[in-house]
Amino acid sequence: MAFPYKKVLILGATSGIGLAFAERLVQRGLFVIVTGRRKENLDNFVQKYGSDKAAAVTVDLSKLDTLPGFAQTIKESHPDLDCVIFNSGIQRRSVFSEAEDINMDVIVQEMTVNYLSYLSLTKEFVPFFKPKDNPTAFIYITSGLALVPLLRCSNYCASKAALHQWILCVREHLKKFNIKVIEILPPAVQTELHDAKHQPDIVNGRSIGMPLEDFTNEAMDGLLRGDEQIPVGQSKLSFDTWEQQRQEIFHNWIKAMGLQP
Ligand SMILES: NC(=O)c1ccc[n+]([C@@H]2O[C@H](COP(=O)([O-])OP(=O)(O)OC[C@H]3O[C@@H](n4cnc5c(N)ncnc54)[C@H](OP(=O)(O)O)[C@@H]3O)[C@@H](O)[C@H]2O)c1
Repeated sequence: MAFPYKKVLILGATSGIGLAFAERLVQRGLFVIVTGRRKENLDNFVQKYGSDKAAAVTVDLSKLDTLPGFAQTIKESHPDLDCVIFNSGIQRRSVFSEAEDINMDVIVQEMTVNYLSYLSLTKEFVPFFKPKDNPTAFIYITSGLALVPLLRCSNYCASKAALHQWILCVREHLKKFNIKVIEILPPAVQTELHDAKHQPDIVNGRSIGMPLEDFTNEAMDGLLRGDEQIPVGQSKLSFDTWEQQRQEIFHNWIKAMGLQP
C-alpha cells in the first residue's frame, strides 16, 4: 500500500526520528515541511533536497501562545497540506525522592512540548482538514513508556501516557471525517533524546535502544500497511497483550454509550 498523503508537516525534524521520517518521505516523493528550533539543521535539509521538495519553518513548541500563529502561517503557505506528524519531544530526569532537584519549570516545559503543544496544534489543524475530500492524517509519536513507565523519567512517561489516552478519544472524535489518527509507539531508539546535554546522568545515551534505521524501517512498514496503531520492538510486549484488552473495554463503552460525548 502506498503512503496516501502528499504534503507532510513534521514537528521536530531537526534530528532523530523526525529527521529519519523526513528523509524517508522526501525520498518517496512527498513534499516535507521540516520544523524545530535549530534553524541550521532545517536549512541543511532544504538545501540537500531542494525547495521544490522541502520547506523549513522554525518553531518553539514550548511557547504555546505562538502556536495558532505558526499554524496559520503553515495553512496559508501550504493549503494542500494533508498530513501532520507530531514527533517533537524532550525527556528529562524526574525522580521525586530527589524532590529538591525537581525544577518545576522543566516539568512544565516537558508537559508543554510533549503534550499540550500537540493538543493546541491539533485544534488548529482539525478545521483545516475537515472539509478536505482527499485523505488526511495526524500521526502522533508517543512511546512504549506511555504504557509502562520508567522510574527515572516519571513526568516524561506521564506526558506520553496522557497523549496515548487522548489519542484514543481523538481517533473516535474524528472518525466521521476524512482524518485518520495514527499512533506510533517507539521503544528506546538511538537518538539525541538520551544525550548528556539533556540528561547528564546518562552515560553514553546515544547507544541506548534500537538503531534508528531499524526503528524507521519497522515504523514505515506499519504506515505503509495503513495501521492506526504501530507499536515497534519492545513496545509490542505490552501493546499486544493487556493494552488490547483495555482498548476492548474502551470500544465496548463506545458501543454502549454511542459516539456522542
Ligand atoms: N529515542 C527514543 O528512545 C524514543 C523512544 C520513544 C519515543 N520517542 C519519542 O520520539 C520523538 C522524537 O524524539 P527523538 O528520539 O528523535 O529525539 P531527538 O533526536 O532529541 O529529537 C527531538 C526533536 O524534538 C524537537 N524539539 C524538542 N523541543 C522542542 C521545542 N521546544 N520546540 C520545537 N521542537 C522541539 C527537536 O528539535 P529542536 O531541538 O531543533 O527544537 C528535535 O527535532 C519524541 O517525541 C520522543 O519522546 C523517542
